[in-house]
Amino acid sequence: MRERGRRRTREGAEEDAEGAARGWASPLTEPGPRRHLAAMSPAPISALPATLCDAALAVLTTAAPAEKVRLTRLYAAAWRDGRIAALGTARPPARPARPERPELRLPRDMPKRRKAQSLAGRIALLHALAHIELNAIDLAWDIVARFPTLPDGTALPRGFQDDWVQVADDEARHHALLEQRLNALGASYGDLPAHDGLWQASEATAHDLPARLAVVPLVLEARGLDVTPAMIDSLNRAGDPAAAEALQIIHDEEISHVAAGRRWFQACADASGRDAQSWWQELVRTWFNGVLKRPFNEPSRSRADFPADWYEPLGVA
Ligand SMILES: [Fe+2]
Ligand SMILES: [Fe+2]
Repeated sequence: MRERGRRRTREGAEEDAEGAARGWASPLTEPGPRRHLAAMSPAPISALPATLCDAALAVLTTAAPAEKVRLTRLYAAAWRDGRIAALGTARPPARPARPERPELRLPRDMPKRRKAQSLAGRIALLHALAHIELNAIDLAWDIVARFPTLPDGTALPRGFQDDWVQVADDEARHHALLEQRLNALGASYGDLPAHDGLWQASEATAHDLPARLAVVPLVLEARGLDVTPAMIDSLNRAGDPAAAEALQIIHDEEISHVAAGRRWFQACADASGRDAQSWWQELVRTWFNGVLKRPFNEPSRSRADFPADWYEPLGVA
């Protein structure tokens, strides 16, 4: 909960020096969706979904990225301040609504990634990341709507929804931040093809909360922690400090997403009487169609309370 408490202060006037130093007070975060939201008068009660699950469904069935971001930020704020208070129930769609562009291709049909040093390479990198963040918005809402209970059938506490709504809100801001950088380079999300691997990985775990947590936050988002520092270096070398700063913000916040995955995976293990480490390894071998590539970003992973002896035995060079 420490991570969550720390991030909450960023939304308010008490933004701490640490947050400001990391760029929260910089023009990079303006005029993003936060300012847009701040400029809006509070939505009338009737404009909000009756329950959090209805809110999740509304986002999942919205195709336009900017609207998906706007609704996510609106509903997350409403959940935090109690204007949406009930969890409700919902059956989330197998696949969320997607815009006509970008064209979705199989991973093997994607063009080769260019070097980030060129303008085209930077656009391709930011576009690929914007696509991941858009998927991540839906993944966070999906987990809220799809999984109301722990494996033993007990209702998940409010802290579970609080965490994943906060993740959805972060991912919406991340997508908007990347779209802003793309726009600054004369491009937009949708200009290039994208691949559908992330959502396919989540579909494989739609039946089971521990499997979903094992794969999505604790494999895929943790992998993001491993690869982002090299991208930041590359963007700095390319003379694009604004894009590098955006990726640093994203990296730092993704630590709390991995931490949420780790925390709720532990809750599942405790409720099931399982050893969390060996169960996670078993679920990853069963449900993750890939390998855990080294090198791991151990400092960032340990900030997420993700111990090396969980993932080290599964790592490949
Ligand atoms: Fe993100
Ligand atoms: Fe994330």
